[in-house]
Amino acid sequence: EQDIVRDAYNRSLHDLRISVIDQCNFRCSYCMPAEIFGKDYAFLKGEQLLTFDEIVRVATLFADMGVRKIRLTGGEPLLRKQLDELIRRLTKVNGIEDIALTTNGIFLPKYAEKLKEAGLSRVNISLDAIDEEMFKKMNGRGVGIHPVLKGIEAAEKAGLQIKMNMVVQKGVNDHQVLPMARFFKEKGITLRFIEFMDVGATNGWSMKDVLTKQEMLEMIGAEMPVKAVDPHYVGEVAKRYVYEDGSAEIGFISSISDAFCSDCSRARISADGQLYTCLFATKGHDVRSLLRDDHTDEELSEHLRMLWNKRDDRYSEERNPDKVSERSKIEMSYIGG
Ligand code: GTP
Ligand code: 5AD
Ligand code: SF4
Ligand code: SF4
Repeated sequence: EQDIVRDAYNRSLHDLRISVIDQCNFRCSYCMPAEIFGKDYAFLKGEQLLTFDEIVRVATLFADMGVRKIRLTGGEPLLRKQLDELIRRLTKVNGIEDIALTTNGIFLPKYAEKLKEAGLSRVNISLDAIDEEMFKKMNGRGVGIHPVLKGIEAAEKAGLQIKMNMVVQKGVNDHQVLPMARFFKEKGITLRFIEFMDVGATNGWSMKDVLTKQEMLEMIGAEMPVKAVDPHYVGEVAKRYVYEDGSAEIGFISSISDAFCSDCSRARISADGQLYTCLFATKGHDVRSLLRDDHTDEELSEHLRMLWNKRDDRYSEERNPDKVSERSKIEMSYIGG
């Protein structure tokens, strides 16, 4: 039978995050600042992207190593053509129990129905402000909140489970924490507040830009009392709370103030087939070359197991806030968060 793989800290492998494209229709300053990701930016070309055949093969190998959950990310994953076709094929992979998508929501009115039909269960939708002008500024493309709200409606109508993601930056959108909380409480939709992280090298992160989980919890709790609830599973990224009136749930992703590396069971594959064993990795492992050379599944599997066995990443637990710029980390839009 299948033997479970463990890394150097005895962590298993449960989630695979697959980036399907490095492009996005937004230019959030903390992720793809427009000055850097401009007209001349060298995005990946067609032949550099893993094909659906290659993605399904990798997913199959990982499922044999214990992966049960797949999350498709980008950039904006809905910019990848025929994504529903990929989802349909991934649902057939033995062992895969849950397929989710992280998106900015803009294309959901067009695709939600098709995605659900193909077998997608859940979407996490990013929205950093509920104030029209603030959101227009934050996404770098002047898009208002209504296209996102339409996306949420479409996902609801299609029967997809929904969670919202808000990246909170002190001095930028921290005054949106309460309005966002009120808005999604009223809708009964889970909202997760994400501490601004030092991903990549272009977002100019500094510790003073971070509003911590504790600060946000106090702000929200003072107006709308909440109580903690258990995680859905060991290693869940968000710490969960429910409003005491039972109206909705919220979560905090506290990679800065309360790191969760000790249970981290996530592997990441970039759109060009590089395997990263941490969001803050400086370098990946070239799985695409292996896929495109003449290797058997057994050979590939052995190699992937070896990579996971050697994994010793625990960046968020080791982070030195004063030295984050000394490490040449991969970009968020490339690895998908
Ligand atoms: P669920 O399966 O719904 O719990 O999804 P998720 O929260 O794991 O995924 P999502 O793509 O919605 O990510 C939300 C935030 O968590 C993003 O900012 C991610 O970058 C961050 N995140 C996800 N996994 C990790 C991780 O392993 N380490 C760190 N530091 N951040 C992570
Ligand atoms: N810190 C925290 N979260 C981030 N995201 C993108 N960049 C950062 C960052 N620097 C979020 C997106 C999306 C998810 C995949 O990651 O907003 O919700
Ligand atoms: Fe696009 Fe999401 Fe990055 Fe914003 S955070 S630029 S929506 S990938
Ligand atoms: Fe996992 Fe790296 Fe995030 Fe820690 S920092 S939880 S090891 S991805």
